[in-house]
Amino acid sequence: MTIVVQAAHPTVYGENGVVVAHDLEACNAGIEILKAGGNAVDAAVAVSYAMAVTHPQAGNLGGGGFMLIQMADGSKFAIDYREMAPGNAHRDMYLDDSSQVIPGLSTRGGLAVGVPGTVAGLQLALDKFGLLSRKKVMKPAIRLAKKGFHIPYDLAYSFGWLNRAAEGYDETRRIFCRNGEIYMPGELFKQPDLAKTLRLIQKKGNAGFYSGPVAEALVKSSAAKGGTITLEDLSNYEPHIREPAKGTYRGFDVLSMPPPSSGGIALISMLNMLEPMNFDSVGWHSAQHIQMMAEVEKRAYADRSVWLGDPDFFEVPQEKLLSKAYATLRMMDYDSLSITPSDSVYPLNDSDLAEIDLTGYESEETTHYSVVDKWGNAVSLTTTLNWSFGSYVTVEGYGFLLNNEMDDFSSKPGEPNSFGLIGNEANAIEPKKRMLSSMTPTILTKDGKVVLVVGAPGGSTIITTVLQVINNMVDYGMPLQDAVNAPRFHHQWRPDLINYGPRAISPDTAELLRNMGYELVPRSAYGEVNAISRDQIFGGWIGAPDYRLSSHAAAY
Ligand code: GLY
Repeated sequence: MTIVVQAAHPTVYGENGVVVAHDLEACNAGIEILKAGGNAVDAAVAVSYAMAVTHPQAGNLGGGGFMLIQMADGSKFAIDYREMAPGNAHRDMYLDDSSQVIPGLSTRGGLAVGVPGTVAGLQLALDKFGLLSRKKVMKPAIRLAKKGFHIPYDLAYSFGWLNRAAEGYDETRRIFCRNGEIYMPGELFKQPDLAKTLRLIQKKGNAGFYSGPVAEALVKSSAAKGGTITLEDLSNYEPHIREPAKGTYRGFDVLSMPPPSSGGIALISMLNMLEPMNFDSVGWHSAQHIQMMAEVEKRAYADRSVWLGDPDFFEVPQEKLLSKAYATLRMMDYDSLSITPSDSVYPLNDSDLAEIDLTGYESEETTHYSVVDKWGNAVSLTTTLNWSFGSYVTVEGYGFLLNNEMDDFSSKPGEPNSFGLIGNEANAIEPKKRMLSSMTPTILTKDGKVVLVVGAPGGSTIITTVLQVINNMVDYGMPLQDAVNAPRFHHQWRPDLINYGPRAISPDTAELLRNMGYELVPRSAYGEVNAISRDQIFGGWIGAPDYRLSSHAAAY
């Protein structure tokens, strides 16, 4: 058997449907459902369940996600199936007696686990927008779990890493690391326990997961590692259909995820800040280009720290933050020739926001997949366990991992989380509250028709990754695959530095930026963008998998 180690998989073209996702098996599951008469939502649900089997680092039953839908008739929906804090959660649950954050408590083990939303969210999507039955769309995933699949190189590598990292998590090491006798690339990997869980969900829907034996095992496994999730937490979980965050950029309509994600608001506000700028004479990834982007990014992330949280608990000034007027106000102190240090970039306060007059204005391990169908429906879906393999807690006897999403809350207002993100009251822990996310599933349309479906994993870098793909295409005219593969950089206000991936900034450009006062820190490749665009020549769809993590695309 030949195993592909790291490869750029081909861009695909299809007229009837395209799926772009991390795993080829998951892409094929989506295409199978499209061919069976399903629409993009049916296919996205099939991909989600398949990814729970083939990509346990982030694909999940025990996590949550966001599904952004643009139907061919122009209707738009954002399904929020983000995890919720358990009923016993409280603001200081990760602090010691001297109010210091206890390292690791919000990231691994039972206390890190939020009440999972994936199964309920997928069911809601299917009920409201799908054409096929749950029985049908779950078939590919059940087959993959029962009959197995050949372990790709990157998954074998991750399992090897997990074997060392997850010491003391015996069920996780039993299932994914064969109790220490690690899997080799190409071995057939069967998951009978997970197949059993999937069959229960297939048969009973939400009741197969949120009550009965799976729920009881989940509560027990979480409690064995210090967690407090109860059967009541599980049976009370509800996904929501929310109004997407909407904006415009140079003639395109931009649709993205509203709170509890920060992604849509931060993305659209950054696009609004960029819109008055002219890129015609600004070289791509020149010092000037990077300065423009970094200045915009730090301003949006400063406001993210104060104004964004679960809208069911905190009044997010969404309309204002999405307005062009906010972008103008926010960029008042921008100087195209110099740096504004993060210490001088303050989140806007109440009276700043009061100045915004809306009159005259229109209104690090996660995974993203994009799906379109022959009718022109599109789904942009980002889902996560938070970190790779989540909390490391596997539900005993049922073969699936639980998230560590609680770390996306602000454990202590003003202190950074594992992505270095600062949060305040808006994102403080409260029972049943959803933790703020950066996931940014996004769709661009022109004249009501989908032109781009895009999103990425990468924690706090997700938002700037999506921003750069749009900037590459709209302002620099790059074809989709080039825009996806292009090197990237990232500023998030705090810490006050620009992170940049391999080959993103040349040494002479770095020198110019350092002379302006920027601190530059290289990092490894990040952000696996899996995107689809409308083909301008033949009218079908182009699917572009990111070369960084050997993603795949399939079409028909
Ligand atoms: N767990 C990463 C995010 O939701 O942003």
